[in-house]
Formats: sequence, C-alpha cells, structure tokens
Amino acid sequence: MTVGEALSQAARRLGEAGIERPQAEARILLEAASGRGRGQIIAFPEHGLTPAQWDVLDAQIARRCAREPVSRILGSREFWSLRFAVGPATLDPRPDSETLVSAVLARISDRNAEVSLLDLGTGTGCLLLALLSELPRATGLGIDICPAACDIATANAAALGLAARAEFRVGDWLRGISAQFDVILSNPPYIESTAIDGLEPEVAQFDPRGALDGGADGLSAYRALIPQAAGGLKPGGLLALEIGAGQGAAVRALADHAGLTDLGSALDLAGIERCLLFSR
Ligand SMILES: C[S@@+](CC[C@H](N)C(=O)[O-])C[C@H]1O[C@@H](n2cnc3c(N)ncnc32)[C@H](O)[C@@H]1O
Repeated sequence: MTVGEALSQAARRLGEAGIERPQAEARILLEAASGRGRGQIIAFPEHGLTPAQWDVLDAQIARRCAREPVSRILGSREFWSLRFAVGPATLDPRPDSETLVSAVLARISDRNAEVSLLDLGTGTGCLLLALLSELPRATGLGIDICPAACDIATANAAALGLAARAEFRVGDWLRGISAQFDVILSNPPYIESTAIDGLEPEVAQFDPRGALDGGADGLSAYRALIPQAAGGLKPGGLLALEIGAGQGAAVRALADHAGLTDLGSALDLAGIERCLLFSR
C-alpha cells in the first residue's frame, strides 16, 4: 500500500466512525506509524508503506474508531509547547488548562525569583512543569493521590530536564505537608458524578474517573482542598484554581469562607471563566 492510499483509507474509516477531523487525525497517526513527516507524506504519496507500518497504522485506526484519543494512542500530548507522556492513570492535559499557567505567570513580576510552587492533583505534572520551564529558579512539589500518575509526572520532569527542581509525591491534597508555598495551583476533579457518563466517549471512557469526579455537585475537591491550601500559602501567596463552567460563584464562596482574598479570574480561549485567583 502507498502512503497516499493508506492516508485516504485511514481518513475514510475515521470519518465513518464519526471522528470530527478524520483527515487531520489520519495524517497524525500515519506520521507516527510510518516515521515520515507531514511534508514527506504530502510530497511523496506514491512511496510505499512496509507491511509492519501498515499493521501499526491499522491497529491505531481501530483504536481511534473506538474513540480512544490520539494522545492516548500515541502515548503523549503537547501542552505549553512541551511534550508530556500520558497514561491510563493520568488526565489527558487540556489546552484550557494553559489558562492557569498564563494566569500564574502574569502574577509573578520577577521570572528569576526563587518561587516555591505546589501543584495539587498533578496528573502528568503538566501545570507544574510548564511553570518550572518558565521560572528558571523556581522549585515545585506535585501531589497526586494516584501513585501511577506520580510516576508519569516524575518521568515527564526527567524528560524535560526539570527533575532537579521538581518533586512528586503521592498524597491526599495537602495532608501531611507542613511547608508553606508562594504559589499553590490546582486543576482538581470538578465534573458532577452523574454527568460523567454523558460526556463524549474520549473523556468518559478514557480519562481516569478519579481525575474527573467532583462528587454530587462537582465541588467536593474544592471543599476539601481550599481550606488546606489557605493554610499552606505563605502570607501574600497566590492560589490559582481551575474551575468548570459556571462554578465561579460557588468556589469563590468557599475561598471567602477560608479567609482568602479574591484576585479575579482568567478566561479560557472560548471566553469561559476557567481560572480563579486568590491571595492569602
Ligand atoms: C483534573 S485532573 C488534573 C491533572 C493535571 N493537573 C492536569 O491539569 O492535567 C485531577 C487530578 O487530581 C488527582 N486527585 C484526585 N483526588 C485527589 C486527592 N484527594 N489528593 C490529591 N490528588 C487528587 C487525580 O488523580 C488527578 O490526577
């Protein structure tokens, strides 16, 4: 089979399975399966695929037709222009979460300062490691209740050359941590339990439930972690929280109750309030 034939067959199968961008995703999978770049695929559609390359692509297309996200099939995803390994135990990092990274950076006036960061529910470590990549003298601790997520975050730190400034530990929010931090950030689980099964299959079937499930009203994690975070911040420290659409008022009330000062919010690319900022 030629590269061009493989591309059209893959795109047709993905389209028939209801995948939104069949051509683009077929090309990404073909690039990975064949080891060819985008330019080569476009310029030389007549080149042949080896049977082994076709077998890899065929298996990848079958997985995507079953609605597994491309990032999980390929084992990694780009976030903040950095590459992160993902696994069954980690949330697939979302572009919307970059809002949190830029909102924190906008509040740090000296990028060379020795800032201490704490990331609660670190998953792949994407938020913490993106910040460490921008703050050369910062150090960070990432906490996750899931040991396998901590292992992936640790491997991501090493792959990005940030291991010397990043530590990952298994834990339940701030329980057992007595240190105080300049910045605490978190993208906690915030989907209402009963809403999860109705999400698109890429999310409901492939993101770990522990990364999504925010309890009956979606706010359980905020109730647990906000009072703890208030105690874990240095005076004047910054708390940055990702929220789901429409959760702003409820999460602000929890932060107010914990004695935190509202510093405003940041919108994601769709114009939805995605990140709330507080100080102690
Ligand atoms: C929405 S995911 C966010 C992952 C990553 N920070 C990101 O933005 O892609 C929430 C994470 O919180 C973790 N988590 C859930 N409950 C936790 C708890 N009690 N203590 C620490 N981490 C928890 C989950 O395992 C999951 O990795």
